Amino acid sequence: MKLRVLTLTASIAAALAMSAGPASAQPAAPKLKVGLMLPYTGTFAALGTAIENGFRLYVAEQGGKLGGREIEVFKVDDESDPSKATDNVNKLIKRDQVDVLVGTVHSGVAMAMAKAAKETGTLLIVPNAGADAVTGPMCAPNIFRSSFSNWQPGYAMGEVVAKKGHKNVVTITWKYAAGDESVKGFKEALEKGGGKVTKELSLPFPNVEFQALLTEIAAAKPDAVYTFFAGGGAVKFVKDYAAAGLKGKIPLYGAGFLTDGTLEAQGADAADLLTTLHYADSLGLPRDNAFRLSYAKAYKLQPDVYAVQGYDAAQMLGIGLAAVKGDATKKDGFADALRKAKIDSPRGPFTLSKAHNPVQDIYLRQVSGKENKSIGVASKALADPGRGCRM
Ligand code: PHB
Repeated sequence: MKLRVLTLTASIAAALAMSAGPASAQPAAPKLKVGLMLPYTGTFAALGTAIENGFRLYVAEQGGKLGGREIEVFKVDDESDPSKATDNVNKLIKRDQVDVLVGTVHSGVAMAMAKAAKETGTLLIVPNAGADAVTGPMCAPNIFRSSFSNWQPGYAMGEVVAKKGHKNVVTITWKYAAGDESVKGFKEALEKGGGKVTKELSLPFPNVEFQALLTEIAAAKPDAVYTFFAGGGAVKFVKDYAAAGLKGKIPLYGAGFLTDGTLEAQGADAADLLTTLHYADSLGLPRDNAFRLSYAKAYKLQPDVYAVQGYDAAQMLGIGLAAVKGDATKKDGFADALRKAKIDSPRGPFTLSKAHNPVQDIYLRQVSGKENKSIGVASKALADPGRGCRM
């Protein structure tokens, strides 16, 4: 009896579908599954939240859809832990079967994501991690970055510091891909400009016991110090540098992560610091003004570089999807559209290099109150060399 009712219902449904007009016959496209793999705990937790905020803001501005598809978000906290990265990314690829991966902050974790994306062909947009390899030897037609390579801000700062005439520079950073590559980019430009890195200091990620290294810097008395730290570690480093009596004595320069999203906590200890980055707080661009207003309204917070990178990851996804009418399996059309695109970022428009890394202006910024004020462009349309990328 029950079976007959069911059969009857099914055949009525089928008849209805056949007789209905084309609009109602078309099933709604299923939601596009986006896997956000970001740090929600640890020293980079605030960065992960800002990226998600930026990503969601752009999607919301488009009415919740990109390329005609509603967006469904799946989230994993990667804890910035490379040893868990492969398991974590597989939760999104295999368990949740996402169409697109967006992540992450930490370079070591991002390399594991890039490997999994390359092996499975899953689309990946990296909204922060600068690992040079992702748009170098690991580059792939389905991997894109909305942020920077570690080489970029480092190289730009090397030019600035060389021009200032500093000859003898000590570097200090976390011992992992991001720190190593940031220092490498800095050194390349500094040495081209006639300066020298005389000592490279480091400590394991995410340690923040800086005291012994600061004592070493005080004893070495270099002309300047260059550093890469970010998030909670950057807050503590800037405070410790001042507490050690080095602020105002030995000029401190950094990749802009040193003072981005951190100024509230760093207070006067960050005053006047010079950094290089692909974003700044008072660019005055109409696109940026609109973004900042929209972000402040949505989250009651000022955006930072991480929020911009998350926002632009969503913009890039939207550009790729629009070109393939929402069909994320059409990887060639998706990639072609992004390779040709001029992305209308709050940072200023940028294009992608052959290896899919942003070609972008790197600003020289100075801390003034609670802002990283742009005081000029350190390096115009700087392109990562993409060494080792064959595509
Ligand atoms: C990285 O690991 O690539 C990284 C982390 C935090 C930043 C920038 C780069 O702010």
